[in-house]
Amino acid sequence: MNLKLPDKLLVLMKISGKTTVYGVIGDPIEHTLSPLMHASAIEKMGIDAVYVPFHVRPDELEHAIKGIKALGVGGLNVTVPHKTRVMDYLDNLTDEAKAVGAVNTVINHDGVLTGDNTDVYGFTRCLFVDGGLERFPKRVYVIGAGGAARGVVYACAKSDEVSEVVVINRTLSKAEKLAEELSAVTGSHISAMPAIEETFSGMLSDAELLINTTSVGMYPQVEHSPVPYPEVFHEGQVVCDIIYNPSETRLLRDAASHGAKVVGGLAMLAYQGARSLSLWTGMEAPAEVMLDVLKQEFGQ
Ligand SMILES: NC(=O)c1ccc[n+]([C@@H]2O[C@H](COP(=O)([O-])OP(=O)(O)OC[C@H]3O[C@@H](n4cnc5c(N)ncnc54)[C@H](OP(=O)(O)O)[C@@H]3O)[C@@H](O)[C@H]2O)c1
Repeated sequence: MNLKLPDKLLVLMKISGKTTVYGVIGDPIEHTLSPLMHASAIEKMGIDAVYVPFHVRPDELEHAIKGIKALGVGGLNVTVPHKTRVMDYLDNLTDEAKAVGAVNTVINHDGVLTGDNTDVYGFTRCLFVDGGLERFPKRVYVIGAGGAARGVVYACAKSDEVSEVVVINRTLSKAEKLAEELSAVTGSHISAMPAIEETFSGMLSDAELLINTTSVGMYPQVEHSPVPYPEVFHEGQVVCDIIYNPSETRLLRDAASHGAKVVGGLAMLAYQGARSLSLWTGMEAPAEVMLDVLKQEFGQ
């Protein structure tokens, strides 16, 4: 958290026996931006709560989850590498979390723990609000088949407007597995393609919507792009990169310079966080405040 010392003291002085604790678990956790955006939202909402990062190693995950019941932690965000395994230790899962196969939000309601996935909501809102998308096109292209791709592919595939999602990945077998699993869950047509030049030059020039979910281009490899053929981009396309560090990736710069509309991952991060806070508190969380503070952090 980039709070100055007096601000930190102010936060600590407000903590009392009635303060609700929320937090995020992950391994590693020291670079998380969640405390920054949640602290801003909590302040704006005027609620008696704090949000703290917890470093939880994989072999301590079960104890950590039992611990939040015992300690009365009101809710948790869950990040890498716990999003799938955490499901084993929860009492309930929402349909969305089951379908995606990952949990990024745990709600503690009177000692009953429910796992949800707010990445699906965060991603969709980011496309329609920040990406200016008015409707999904018939065919959507998603690059990557890792953890984050699951929520993105699910969000696209479950839309009635989409008739095919094409998953493009370096390791074709992983794209095929994801396509098979999410086709079964959504009943939608999901296909898999290798991330090679023929795929990009043959298919992407017709793409209306392309989403990068790989880590290619993420800090510190900021000069890399998952689509090293910028000529496939053109006007009329929306290109989304869910990477948020840097907030503008090489992929987005290439796409924008060829006339495509681009949207980065900071908005998705803010919106998934806002949704979690709303689920925990039953109040509408100020998503724009959360996004603004993230943008400030990245000098935007
Ligand atoms: N904005 C948000 O709110 C948000 C939320 C979640 C995640 N993210 C971001 O999404 C990104 C991916 O996260 P994740 O959890 O899905 O990671 P992950 O599970 O490790 O998946 C990584 C993906 O990137 C591909 N990849 C990695 N290195 C590559 C390379 N050198 N060349 C080609 N492909 C490569 C992998 O392909 P293979 O299958 O071939 O290995 C895989 O598809 C991260 O940057 C993360 O910060 C953003």
